[in-house]
This record gives sequence, C-alpha cells and structure tokens, in this order.
Amino acid sequence: PLGRATHIEKFGTVVCCGGGVGCAPLLPIVAAMKEAGNRVITVLAARTKELIILEKQMREYSDEVIIMTDDGSYGNTIEPLVLIDNVEGDIDMINPEDIEKVDLCVTIGPAVMMKFVSLLTRKYDIPTVASLNTIMVDGTGMCGACRITVGGKTRFVCIDGPEFDAHQVDFDEMLMRLSSYKDLESK
Ligand code: FES
Repeated sequence: PLGRATHIEKFGTVVCCGGGVGCAPLLPIVAAMKEAGNRVITVLAARTKELIILEKQMREYSDEVIIMTDDGSYGNTIEPLVLIDNVEGDIDMINPEDIEKVDLCVTIGPAVMMKFVSLLTRKYDIPTVASLNTIMVDGTGMCGACRITVGGKTRFVCIDGPEFDAHQVDFDEMLMRLSSYKDLESK
C-alpha cells in the first residue's frame, strides 16, 4: 500500500521487459509510457506459451511486442544466459548504425530474470529500472523482511521502492533472501 509511484515521462524509446506474473504490474507502466509519448517495445517472457499473459492488452499500447518462452513453444526461446549470448552475438553481426538507441529499460519479473536484464543493459549503458518482488510482511518499513542493498545502502522495498536503479541492486543478496523460506514454501 505504500512505496513510490513509477516515474513516467517522455524518455524516447522505452523497453519494458516482463516475466511471468510480472507482466501484470508492467501493463499500466507500458500504457503510461506510451501515453507520455514514448516509443514502447515490450518483451513478454514466460516458461511456456500458456503462461504468457496480457499479450493482447500489451499490443494495444506497444509499438512492438516480442514474446519469449523458455521452452520455445511460442515466440523466441529464452534462457537468460543464452539470451545474453544471443543478443551479444546478434549485436556483433549488426551494423552499429542500425541498432536502435534505447533510453530506458523497465523490468518486472523473477529476480533472476531482472538480474540478467540488468547485467545486459549495464553493458550497453541503458538506464534500467527494476520493480522488486521481495518477501514482505508488514509493508510499513518496520519488519525488515523486504530489506535489500542498493548502491551499498540498505533499502526497504515496501516504502523506498518497489522500483530501483537495477544497476545498483545487489540481486545475489536478494535471491538469497528470497529463498529463506524455500523449504516451507514447497510443503
Ligand atoms: Fe516489512 Fe518492508 S515489508 S519493512
């Protein structure tokens, strides 16, 4: 219920990357970015074709939609590490003048996906915002369950976020904390 609103303005070209149910909170951002006059390229990723959600709605607000599935049942096949290799391999083969400049990337999805999106965009100096999905308990900044490290400082996702500069987020720590209750969750 707390936290801060997404910063929307005309950036230029905005790439919105959603993974799994992260596509749901991404939709209003895609719509608002488009409304603000941006060129919006949306990437929707999921494990299988059946798990791709909101494609029709995303197409309404996006200039381009790229679909990715882990098993290749729809769109392009994706594995984060493979994707980075592919993208970089592809980029090497493209005339640099034909590469579209991206002014901002927004990513919402599994932490591991956001980590690899962030690694890739950092390499190309593309400002990137990640909307984080940590464990939360009270949602008021008191319990510390949603604690993360951003740029070496402690932040609470529930009140300081949920969006942060992805290049400053310690995703490895976040992944470790997300797995704290793994055994209980699987019961
Ligand atoms: Fe408790 Fe954020 S959920 S401090």
